[in-house]
Amino acid sequence: MSLIRLVYASESRLVDANRRAELDTILADARRLNDRSGITGFLLATKEAFAQVLEGPQDSVTETYGRIVIDPRHQAVRLLIQEPIAARSFPGWAMGIAERDETTNFIFGLYGVSPEQDLHTQPPDILVDLAHEIAQRHA
Ligand SMILES: Cc1cc2nc3c(=O)[nH]c(=O)nc-3n(C[C@H](O)[C@H](O)[C@H](O)COP(=O)(O)O)c2cc1C
Repeated sequence: MSLIRLVYASESRLVDANRRAELDTILADARRLNDRSGITGFLLATKEAFAQVLEGPQDSVTETYGRIVIDPRHQAVRLLIQEPIAARSFPGWAMGIAERDETTNFIFGLYGVSPEQDLHTQPPDILVDLAHEIAQRHA
């Protein structure tokens, strides 16, 4: 079964008042659905933006991305990478998440992510590296 990796970035439409609850819902749905379709990956979230790595069988990733791209909880979704991979970078993560907050601000900053240079303006490789580093710290 051929594996692919897909990376996109988008502008968040979540508002401060219910961001926490909305993120919890997104994550719970993502984990349930991804678990069924053999998808793993990682979601980076700031107040303004998202970036997500999805990896798994080509058909599952394409189908899942098709649902994500029309989700009204974000906008201006930009496909950054869609490529075959030999092995997963996020095995065991039906979907991990890292929000930029007081504890993660430092690591986001190391990769050049700031309020002025938010996730949706970053080069795709940086996003994958940042997600990978955070996933390893939490492993
Ligand atoms: C930032 C973001 C990330 C998401 N990640 C996933 C994901 O990894 N897998 C998934 O199935 N749905 C994900 N979703 C949710 C989908 O957009 C969609 O709501 C969900 O798949 C259910 O689809 P349905 O409403 O068509 O049944 C995400 C949504 C957002 C806003």
